[in-house]
Amino acid sequence: MPQKISVALGERSYPIYTGTGLLKKLGEFIEKHGLKGEAVIVTQREIWAHWRAVIHESLSSRGIVYQVHLPKAGGQSEKMKSSAELFRLIKTCSKVDGRGRGLFLIALGGGVVGDVTGFAAAIYRRGVPCVQVPTTLTAQVDSAIGGKNAIDLPEGKNLLGAIYQPRFVLSDPETLKTLPDRLLRDGLAEVVKYGVITDPGLFVFLEKKRDQILARGRGELERIIASSARTKAKVVSRDEFDKKEVRIVLNFGHTIGHAIEAASGYGKYTHGEAISIGMMCAIELSASLGVLKEFSLPRRLEKLLIAFGLPVKLDKKISVEKMMRAIGYDKKNVDGTNRFVLIEKLGKTVIHRAVPQRLIYDHIQKRRG
Ligand SMILES: NC(=O)c1ccc[n+]([C@@H]2O[C@H](COP(=O)([O-])OP(=O)(O)OC[C@H]3O[C@@H](n4cnc5c(N)ncnc54)[C@H](O)[C@@H]3O)[C@@H](O)[C@H]2O)c1
Ligand SMILES: [Zn+2]
Repeated sequence: MPQKISVALGERSYPIYTGTGLLKKLGEFIEKHGLKGEAVIVTQREIWAHWRAVIHESLSSRGIVYQVHLPKAGGQSEKMKSSAELFRLIKTCSKVDGRGRGLFLIALGGGVVGDVTGFAAAIYRRGVPCVQVPTTLTAQVDSAIGGKNAIDLPEGKNLLGAIYQPRFVLSDPETLKTLPDRLLRDGLAEVVKYGVITDPGLFVFLEKKRDQILARGRGELERIIASSARTKAKVVSRDEFDKKEVRIVLNFGHTIGHAIEAASGYGKYTHGEAISIGMMCAIELSASLGVLKEFSLPRRLEKLLIAFGLPVKLDKKISVEKMMRAIGYDKKNVDGTNRFVLIEKLGKTVIHRAVPQRLIYDHIQKRRG
């Protein structure tokens, strides 16, 4: 069943439409949202090859004219989040703009396409409308929702960005059928996170239906995407600009996860794999600090992550010292003290300030093996 989930942000509010087969209705939604002018579809070759016929039919049947923008080089997807690629996209925008009909952007892809498109939409002419059509599980449950957009600089990941909300998000689980297994599992780590931080029902569903989810059962994917999107939408609605210590709960497993990514040089682990290990460290820290009241939870979490093919142990070759340094520079740090998202029980988080560095070190060490 298609669902409409609202991201409530006053005049910047927008819906997330999610359901199997919805991609066919892209043109209809564009019309419904009153988007005028030429569409710039930002995507990547493999994705476009798969979905061009469906999208062409949907847009042209409504008389929507579009131009497709692809990255210059193939290869690693993340390269599309560079300033060079951003400016290529801005050039495409100005070319389309020059035809005088006005324009809006459509991001058709994973988090990389979503981020570069959202950022271009935020800065071109101080903002043009943007639509997010996420095609990875990560993007459907996380990056396409909430308006955070960023590109990478040589100095670091996601350093140049803006918070800019799309007009709507259209997420069709059918697009996930071509996703490689490793990327599906990558997104599942974020889904598990939503279960742990706010949604015990989702967590139990994941435990019960893990095989059907891995087999990409239609109903199961719809259920986990809708539940996750609902949590993300709710959290973002309460803290759009990440200023109120609400949005930080989404960072469960990420402080250590980001450190793993940084210390291993971005590439050995996917983001989801790194936060899988990060979540295990954080839940064990919760127990050590006496915050966790549900003693069976670390074992349940570990079992679920393993079932989804996610790592729960850290490669011995990764330096814990390097990770500690990365945590020191973590963007969630305030005034040199860390803020950790800990778990009290399934669905309930606690923000802990200044967790002793020694304890963090010991828990990372414990997970090496
Ligand atoms: N803005 C946010 O709030 C936010 C949140 C999380 C992650 N991110 C960003 O998102 C990026 C990661 O996103 P991602 O994991 O979606 O990776 P990605 O966008 O790089 O996509 C991964 C690969 O999958 C391919 N792909 C996409 N959809 C496909 C499909 N349906 N079938 C087959 N292949 C497909 C892509 O071409 C790419 O090669 C990172 O840059 C990260 O910083 C942003
Ligand atoms: Zn994440």
